[in-house]
Amino acid sequence: MTDEPALILGVESSCDETSCALVADGSKVISDTVAGQVELHARYGGVVPEIASRAHIEAINPAIERVLEDSGARPEEISAVAVTHEPGLIGSLLVGLTAAKTLAWVWGKPLVGVNHVCAHAYAATIDDERIEYPATALIVSGGHTSLYRCESPTELELLGSTIDDAAGEAFDKVASMLNLGFPGGPAVEKAARGGDPHAIDFPRSLLKGQSLDFSFSGLKTAVLYHVNGVPGATRSQAPAGVGAGKGAENLSPQELADVAASFQQAVVDVLRIKLRRAAGQTGAKTLVLGGGVAANTPLREALSELAEELDVTLRMPKLRYCLDNAAMVAGLGYHYLLAGQISDLSLEARATVRR
Ligand code: KG4
Ligand code: ZN
Repeated sequence: MTDEPALILGVESSCDETSCALVADGSKVISDTVAGQVELHARYGGVVPEIASRAHIEAINPAIERVLEDSGARPEEISAVAVTHEPGLIGSLLVGLTAAKTLAWVWGKPLVGVNHVCAHAYAATIDDERIEYPATALIVSGGHTSLYRCESPTELELLGSTIDDAAGEAFDKVASMLNLGFPGGPAVEKAARGGDPHAIDFPRSLLKGQSLDFSFSGLKTAVLYHVNGVPGATRSQAPAGVGAGKGAENLSPQELADVAASFQQAVVDVLRIKLRRAAGQTGAKTLVLGGGVAANTPLREALSELAEELDVTLRMPKLRYCLDNAAMVAGLGYHYLLAGQISDLSLEARATVRR
């Protein structure tokens, strides 16, 4: 390696954000851009894969051009092109992967395939200090809720993951039940301010024994039954508590805030308990948080308290690097490049992968 910084161009298009970034030496962002698609999907209450891939096609070239222009970097100064190739929506992944392969081929640069969830586990490093390993990472997003033991940025062992809904998905579905709009996470967090997190005792699914897997579908159903009533139940069997069974449109602002706050508290409690368990099993020096739900303030506060209690360091991404972004992809790509883990043009997009 020379003294020149290694510049990695990152490309991310696994879900509904088209992002490109130029990152130096794995953590310093030279230039980045994220084009979201919220307004295209909002009326459907969730990401529509076909709409997402078409929007990526329109946004990908402008994103790459903008990053190159903003940074002033010339292709010959770029060390490699890193791209998310798994997991994600297949049509969305293919757009970024094809763009990245084309650039790598035209420029004659190495292509580095990056796992999206591993990139979320690296995001806390972007524009910040390095993570001290071994670490235990909790990745909570719209598509994933997983715990990892991390030996280095590139060596991750899956300890547990959700057996049904992801935490972010539960936020999105509860937001939809409460008519709060899309994306649901920020809307539920906002609605929960001023609510009593202990107003309703929603279930915390911890699964058996020392399990590090998650389940959020029971919680989601409990919120649904609480708000709309249990299907077929008589009035006397209706759920107890604030606003029980009367429908979201009939909840008072305080009742709505209480439902949102109690749901959010149940998610935060489960995430905190499971991360504590995982940290105990792995003896980590550092706790790492990543993924869109990492933007949630009550979660960030709860995990800060946990880190203090366990006397370990907590590393959380800056808010803009919680959500999908190419800076984390370029950052992690640098470490794959250093480790010689380079792909060729046969690199495939994969919708699912368990690792
Ligand atoms: O990482 P991300 O951008 O995409 C995936 O890889 O899935 O995460 C998006 C998810 C959505 O489910 C969104 O509702 C959730 O992150 N989210 C939040 C917050 N901000 C975004 N969940 C809870 N609280 C937030 N403040
Ligand atoms: Zn993500």
